[in-house]
Amino acid sequence: MTKNRPIPFVDLVTPHIELQDELVAAFKTAIRTAAFIGGPAVEGFEREFAEYCGAQHCVGVSSGTDALRFALTGAGVQPGDIVLTVPHTFIATTEAISQAGARPDFVDVDARTYTMDPLKLRQYMETKCELDSRTGRYVHRTLGKPVTAVIPVHLYGQTADMDPILELADRFGLVVIEDACQAHGAEYFSKKENRWRKAGSMGHAAAFSFYPGKNLGACGEGGAITTNDEKVARSSKMLRDHGQSRKYHHEIEGYNGRLDAIQAGILSVKLRHLTEWNRRRQDAARRYDDMLSSFEEVIAPCQPEWSRSVYHLYVIRVQDREGLQKYLTEAHIHTGIHYPVALHLQHAYAHLGYKQGDFPVSEKAASEILSLPMYPQLEPTDQTRVIQTILEFLSQSANLRESTETLSLRSV
Ligand SMILES: Cc1ncc(COP(=O)(O)O)c(C=O)c1O
Repeated sequence: MTKNRPIPFVDLVTPHIELQDELVAAFKTAIRTAAFIGGPAVEGFEREFAEYCGAQHCVGVSSGTDALRFALTGAGVQPGDIVLTVPHTFIATTEAISQAGARPDFVDVDARTYTMDPLKLRQYMETKCELDSRTGRYVHRTLGKPVTAVIPVHLYGQTADMDPILELADRFGLVVIEDACQAHGAEYFSKKENRWRKAGSMGHAAAFSFYPGKNLGACGEGGAITTNDEKVARSSKMLRDHGQSRKYHHEIEGYNGRLDAIQAGILSVKLRHLTEWNRRRQDAARRYDDMLSSFEEVIAPCQPEWSRSVYHLYVIRVQDREGLQKYLTEAHIHTGIHYPVALHLQHAYAHLGYKQGDFPVSEKAASEILSLPMYPQLEPTDQTRVIQTILEFLSQSANLRESTETLSLRSV
């Protein structure tokens, strides 16, 4: 019976049941005041989340995608610019670049951390771009467009290696927008500053998603921009609200991209639990790490000394990913793939002209990664069952290989 009990990939029900009374109280407050758009709940959450991230400003918006788009435009990215990011991320990162009128382009990820490889960023800027002495900007040699921003993605709950990225951005005049949509509370040790820094406090601005499955998730859609730049905060506030600086005074054309007050109230409740939830994810990750340490066939996530990951996802790597996923599904263990096709190979980006082999690290990762069940309430006994099932699969595959080898030896 226990053997067949499903282990979900993520459990969104338990935390909502645990917090039901507090969440309903937040909803009741909105009903009683009818402050559904803006107002004290939104402003209160913005203050709390800015403080949590160690940033001076937070602007609540309607999604992580809008947060990226508003941050890019608010930080000065112009239509026609090139914005660099990685091919190994969710498509929202590049959608936001296109929506801001810019053209996405890619640098590959590091093979161990799956985040932007600073060396590849340097190579891109040094070999593909040149300084336009007229504008003082770096321009792509063949595309003839200025490269003005870079979006390092803090993937799976782990930040990118920010010191060298920030240094390169400084050298080449790039705006840095952190995609922190999967990294609420993740930390990076900056050698340059000799201190731990939170995701969302390091770039010119950062974007967070509060999609329900995130480490901090709304009961619906939501997102936020954090920044230490007052100008970016002001522009983002205008962009989310039809470009108005005050009611019916429109400085620019904007969007309807606000965070609503019910979601803000709910996020304030959940924010109080985020540190504990992240700690439980880290404990669960440590248990997986320990159990996997003796398997050569499985590559566990790598957490460099400069990182404190909050394990939005726990992503392993195996050669026969499809086989293992099928085996786990048959054992009622649910997994995910984040993401199966690198962005430069997606149909949506065929116009960029990339082909198989252009970003080999991302492509190989896309074919081998598998996200195991991960959530704060994950039981250690369930984790043991996950690992035992992986072990079973690996030993069956090894036996099969051995008997195939024996058979082919015999037939020689
Ligand atoms: C890396 C990354 N960027 C951006 C987004 C977009 O966030 P949203 O779904 O809130 O628009 C997500 C959400 O899944 C994401 O994982």
